[in-house]
Amino acid sequence: MAKKVLVTGGAGFIGSNFLNYVLRQRDDWEVVNLDKLTYAGNLENLKEIEEKPNYTFVKGDITNNELVNYLFEKYRFDYVINFAAESHVDRSILGSEVFFRTNVVGTNVLLEASRRFGIEKFLQVSTDEVYGSLGETGLFTEQTPLSPNSPYSSSKAGADLMAKSFHHTYDLPVVITRCSNNYGPYQFPEKLIPLMIINALNDKELPVYGDGLNVRDWIYVIDHNRAVELALENGKPGEVYNVGASREMKNIEIVKLILKILGKPESLIKYVKDRPGHDRRYAIDSSKIQSELGWKPSFEFEEAIVQTVEWYLKNKSWWERIISGEYQKYYETQYGQR
Ligand code: NAD
Ligand code: DAU
Repeated sequence: MAKKVLVTGGAGFIGSNFLNYVLRQRDDWEVVNLDKLTYAGNLENLKEIEEKPNYTFVKGDITNNELVNYLFEKYRFDYVINFAAESHVDRSILGSEVFFRTNVVGTNVLLEASRRFGIEKFLQVSTDEVYGSLGETGLFTEQTPLSPNSPYSSSKAGADLMAKSFHHTYDLPVVITRCSNNYGPYQFPEKLIPLMIINALNDKELPVYGDGLNVRDWIYVIDHNRAVELALENGKPGEVYNVGASREMKNIEIVKLILKILGKPESLIKYVKDRPGHDRRYAIDSSKIQSELGWKPSFEFEEAIVQTVEWYLKNKSWWERIISGEYQKYYETQYGQR
């Protein structure tokens, strides 16, 4: 029997890569994509799969109780995968209210509906940022205490705790994945890698926060999505699985690498005011999902970053449409210039 799957936030960066990947190989899933189409949601990302008979798009908000319950009643979902979120740390510093609403209240609405109607598995797509920041050494494990530092990460931690409580209290089969920084096609150009690629292509300054020595642990988006699929189907209810590809990089190294790939000068780099409360270092220990579920990353950073840069070169019209719209206003607010 086909599985009925509710995917939320499927028009965003990771969700659309998930749908493009999963619907190419899974005729045994009937997928409903519920997405509000915020500034970050883009149906252009889903052109390849939108005609598939086992795919339905619904424009709507995960905080809308009535709509969510209507969809559960209509489709009787087996699986729920919650990608929907406000996802950008800098925007959460500019204003946190919508982060609380979508990330906390929205997750609660989905959990309540899942409890009411009954489901086989609820996969909460979370982030390593819930663990806070590391010093020079060490890795985040699933036992690391939650210590989120930004409005974004605290809202994600709130959602994680609520999801865990629904397992503990109601025995709802919830699994949580906590992944490190993703890169790949369709990433909105407010995030480090696409922002730097696009600015470099436009010969604009590359704004590096602080001393540029903050460290992030990078993973190609398809490797993350394979982990989500595996954790959904084989993950043990109530468990958390860290996901990461052990590819730590200082921000300045990434920026210089992008300039090198594009043949652009390092003089484009501009050090700017640091992000308030900027987490210094993230690094993930993913040995649990590797040993218990048999997941491992399959993309090499050196190749996948070049492919990602090439994707942005080939898909200029995709990002030109984005940066000519509302994005201009955000850029001015965040960076004080056009
Ligand atoms: P994104 O901002 O690119 O996409 C978010 C999507 O959610 C958009 O399509 C948006 O329209 C939709 N959305 C937002 N609010 C909604 C609402 N109220 N109702 C319905 N849909 C709504 O984000 P992303 O980078 O693709 O991240 C997806 C998920 O993965 C998030 O939960 C994020 O916390 C998590 N995550 C991201 C990363 C990363 O590196 N980007 C790493 C780990 C975890
Ligand atoms: O770790 C997972 C998280 O990774 C996800 O949960 C978030 O949704 C995702 O946005 C990402 O958060 P970060 O804050 O790490 O990503 P961002 O791309 O915003 O920034 C990466 C690093 O680059 C960070 O140290 C800040 C720095 N940076 C970012 C921007 C946008 C700059 O130096 N200049 C910039 O203009």
